[in-house]
Amino acid sequence: MSNSVNLETTSLVTGAAGFIGSHLVDALLARGERVIGLDNFTLGHRGNLTAALANPRFCLLEQDVNQAESCREAVVRELAGGKIGTVWHLAANSDIQAGGRNPDVDLQLTFLTTFHVLKLMEQLGWRRLVFASTSAIYGSLDAELREDSGPLFPVSNYGAMKLASEGAISAALERFLERAWICRFPNVVGGRATHGAIYDFIKKLRANPAELEVLGDGLQEKPYLHVSELVAAMLFIYDHAGDRLNCFNIAPEIGASTVRFMAEASVRAAAPGAGIRYTGGARGWVGDVPKFRYSTAKLRSLGWRARLSSDAAVELAIQENL
Ligand SMILES: NC(=O)c1ccc[n+]([C@@H]2O[C@H](COP(=O)([O-])OP(=O)(O)OC[C@H]3O[C@@H](n4cnc5c(N)ncnc54)[C@H](O)[C@@H]3O)[C@@H](O)[C@H]2O)c1
Repeated sequence: MSNSVNLETTSLVTGAAGFIGSHLVDALLARGERVIGLDNFTLGHRGNLTAALANPRFCLLEQDVNQAESCREAVVRELAGGKIGTVWHLAANSDIQAGGRNPDVDLQLTFLTTFHVLKLMEQLGWRRLVFASTSAIYGSLDAELREDSGPLFPVSNYGAMKLASEGAISAALERFLERAWICRFPNVVGGRATHGAIYDFIKKLRANPAELEVLGDGLQEKPYLHVSELVAAMLFIYDHAGDRLNCFNIAPEIGASTVRFMAEASVRAAAPGAGIRYTGGARGWVGDVPKFRYSTAKLRSLGWRARLSSDAAVELAIQENL
């Protein structure tokens, strides 16, 4: 069954002014949809939505998803009797280290945002949800990560609260949701980044073009996907996966990139000749998963595969973040 564009309805994107949310808004608008974006600008900013804000089919509401009553009033006013077809829930804490220092961060921003989005959906009769999940739910399993890998014991508060969000979505399907799509992202890179290793490296090299300090030993190795491919995969999954609960890993087909590769490529692009100093240790920070491998077999069998390798995505993202 296809879920392709329905002009009678409007899509709601939470976290719309963030890195991935803003690219998703652009893609939904390009498909001809009407879009309402919600963001409280804790990490995202209006500048990410410059093109979208010029489009009459887009409206950005400055709202905290956890202020459920205020959100409900603002969206209902904007809809003027219309209906939300699909909610794309991306608002969350994206600073995993901050969540390690203070567990309240992920309780509030990663779990309660999902809880409140589900409450809003139940109150207003919105029945389709796409959720931005993460490889962090798998914890530090050694095996290639498949959608049915387990048992799942996350090692970060962020991963724990994303896993709890997946559980809340599954329970909501028993009560009022008609269909849900859980997309488990790998590390995502590209222009408009608000955080992440490439973002940090370029920022540090701007401040000190002589030396780049890198947390850990540089040997951490993960799959990186370009944001354009991530958004394409999300839309493909939404259009083609027709079960009640659809859960997919999204990742590049070719390889993973080491932190060392990212650091050296960042230096080449932003401050040629700068030295690189590794702080040492296998983990970059508490809650980091130094290495993981994603199985993309399920997504491939649905008919989608990434074209860029992990290293090519990293190189492209560095150029876009200069
Ligand atoms: N970037 C990655 O590598 C990655 C990997 C796995 C999963 N994800 C998930 O994808 C989603 C988007 O991540 P991103 O990288 O674009 O991060 P981001 O921080 O750039 O975007 C998140 C947005 O949510 C907003 N937000 C946070 N709390 C809010 C609240 N209470 N109310 C309204 N808005 C709120 C922030 O201001 C921000 O604009 C997140 O759910 C994240 O957990 C990202």
